[in-house]
Parts: sequence; structure tokens; C-alpha cells
Amino acid sequence: MKIAVIQGPNLNMLGIREQHIYGPMSLDQIHEQMKASAEQNGVELEFFQSNLEGEIVDRIQESLGTVDGILINPAAFSHTSIAIKDALSAVNLPTVEVHISNIYKREEFRQKSITAASAAGVITGFGPFGYHMGLMALTQIISEVKAVEAQQQAQAAE
Ligand code: DQA
Repeated sequence: MKIAVIQGPNLNMLGIREQHIYGPMSLDQIHEQMKASAEQNGVELEFFQSNLEGEIVDRIQESLGTVDGILINPAAFSHTSIAIKDALSAVNLPTVEVHISNIYKREEFRQKSITAASAAGVITGFGPFGYHMGLMALTQIISEVKAVEAQQQAQAAE
């Protein structure tokens, strides 16, 4: 099973930016931990971070046929980007959205995620541990999708 981990703008500044909100861990440290636990479960992760909306749209499009699902923190683009929402809907892969902070506890403009409408679900407010929770949820969804596909193939072959 292969999963694309897509990180939006300013998440490359984790460990430096607003530590009282996002904590002390860097993005590389978060990714190392995710990689270690994913490997134990036979899951391969592909990491991508960009500060540019179009690059994130491109990366989502490239996910089609190359990965089984998408774990995404669109960061500030969550609240603004119809383009990222549309790209997620276009590829129609199992997707889980993660936010490190609890967006519902913050400024009003953060309390709506446009992109979340294209995700199976959202994990918000559990710090970097949210990425692990997101991975667990996503691997479960992908396993269910694969099981249904296998069943359909078996029925078609009958
Ligand atoms: C964030 C929340 C967003 O509102 C913010 O713009 C971010 C990070 C989070 O992970 O908590 O950059 O997505």
C-alpha cells in the first residue's frame, strides 16, 4: 500500500513557526516518525511539501494511478482553495485531511475547510500525533476499498 503525504504552505517552518500552536517538532521529524510506523505496517509513504497552490494541485493529479490514498494538510489553502478541493475530487482517491491545531478553536476564518469536503474525514487538534491518527484511518479506508474491489473482481470472474 502506497500513500502520498501532501503538506501545504508554511509547514516547512514547523519547529520554528508559532511553537505555542504547532509544537517544537520539525516537518522532517514528523515525517521520520510517520515513516517508521508506516514501515511496520507495510505502508510506503511519499512525502511532498509546497508553498505553492498549483504545485499541490499537480501533486494531487500525479497521485492518480501511483498511490492508493492521500493524507493531506493543505494548511492555509484549506480555507481558500477551490482548486485543491477540485483536484482531490477529480482523482477521487481515499483522502484524509489533517490539521495539527484545532481549527475550530481558532480565528473564525480558519473554522471552515473548503478542501475537507473532498476528504473522507478530518483530524484536527491533536498535534503531530494527528498524522498518525490520519494514517491509521486512511490505511483502514484503503483496506476496505481494496477488499470491495477484490470481491467485485472475484464475482466478475465467476
Ligand atoms: C493548519 C491550520 C491552518 O489554519 C494554518 O493555516 C496552517 C496549519 C494546522 O495544521 O493546524 O498553516 O493546517
